[in-house]
Amino acid sequence: MDTSPRIILNNIKHYLFNRDDVICPSHLINELFEFVFVVTLYPAVSFLNLMVQFFRFFYQLTLSVSEQTPTLDSNSILITGASCGIGLSLAKSICNQWLIQKRTKLGQVSNEKKTLTLVSRNLDKLERVREEIYSTFSSRNLKELVDIQVRDCDICDRKEIEKVVTEQDYDMVIASAATNSQILSREFSSQNGGKTDKKGENIQDEEDVIYQEFQVNIFGTLNTVLPAMKQAKNRNIDSRLPKHVVVVASGAGYHGKLMGPYGITKTFLFEFSRMFQFILNNNDNQNQHENNLDYSSSDVVRNFKEMSRKYANQKQLVLHVVNPAGVTDTRMGETIKNLDKIPGSIHSNHAANLILGGLIKNERVIDLNNSFVYAGLRFLNALPVSAESFVTNCLNLQIYS
Ligand SMILES: NC(=O)c1ccc[n+]([C@@H]2O[C@H](COP(=O)([O-])OP(=O)(O)OC[C@H]3O[C@@H](n4cnc5c(N)ncnc54)[C@H](OP(=O)(O)O)[C@@H]3O)[C@@H](O)[C@H]2O)c1
Repeated sequence: MDTSPRIILNNIKHYLFNRDDVICPSHLINELFEFVFVVTLYPAVSFLNLMVQFFRFFYQLTLSVSEQTPTLDSNSILITGASCGIGLSLAKSICNQWLIQKRTKLGQVSNEKKTLTLVSRNLDKLERVREEIYSTFSSRNLKELVDIQVRDCDICDRKEIEKVVTEQDYDMVIASAATNSQILSREFSSQNGGKTDKKGENIQDEEDVIYQEFQVNIFGTLNTVLPAMKQAKNRNIDSRLPKHVVVVASGAGYHGKLMGPYGITKTFLFEFSRMFQFILNNNDNQNQHENNLDYSSSDVVRNFKEMSRKYANQKQLVLHVVNPAGVTDTRMGETIKNLDKIPGSIHSNHAANLILGGLIKNERVIDLNNSFVYAGLRFLNALPVSAESFVTNCLNLQIYS
């Protein structure tokens, strides 16, 4: 974001007097209606929602006082993107949690041998990570409790990742692998023998970078989570706890375009997960599902609902979406300028503990955003289209630029 007053003034002048961005009467009428809705309904609905959330929070607080401390009940967990960054820190936090539960005899089956499978494209790195984790917890005999397995697999290879994710019925699958354009540029340039142009920048086709970013973050994540979600359909709800599938999106996804194609991939993942959480809620009871199909007006929606029958119901499957934000000591964090100066930026160990804490408490949306950043991004999203253009253009708004 550029906050120099001269630049902001120039931007405002350009915005007000440019003739390329044509305003038509029908759009003005739409915005008038939007104004009436926003001024009258928005505060009322927001206030009502706040009250409902406060009530639910205090109600759940009274329940959890009488209940036992929540524990990590998953005994087999797979993590993609576990060779570094948040994925690696999550692997360590999970091992630590299992060790604590064994020592304090918390949890359902505390002495059962656990499996932790780490996935990335680089087997050597994963083997080093496995040794690092075992040596971090060597004094607490981690090897006796946890079998750490490693799998090298590119999540863009649909068949391969499906095989890896379903080779056993994992209790939890965490899809954390992702990339961004800076990381891809470096990877492309090292594949081309590290060639750079005169300015020292990488040589690659920009289109390749955008396609690959979408391929890894969107299709790679779908390749990972959809087979896991289908597999949960076979879970016997009388004898087994539900399977947990965790999609790692990003706080940037609340207003994706401010972070370029990467942000948009994360908006997709957030919205996709919210849609499936909604379907899971409605899939709970087969009769209700039949009714939903009968009353559905659109064939597209009918088809999709038919398809979603192949997936589990919410007693067999819990879908979580995680929105990390500003995690500094990661490969992705290093590509973002001045990340450590952004409010709420944290280290990956801290982020991993917060994420695991949310998973243990069974939170469906686990958000690591600073409250101001969260409110600002949501506010931008709620603005009328032209007001949003005004704010983003005049302030040159780009998060993490
Ligand atoms: N760091 C942040 O501030 C931040 C903020 C918001 C959201 N997030 C999200 O949090 C997650 C983890 O981020 P991070 O910062 O820990 O990233 P990172 O340090 O760059 O780690 C990315 C991981 O993904 C793996 N990976 C990349 N492409 C892959 C592919 N095609 N197939 C398999 N594995 C692949 C990498 O392993 P190999 O290279 O060994 O294959 C690496 O283990 C991502 O989903 C990211 O979008 C991060």
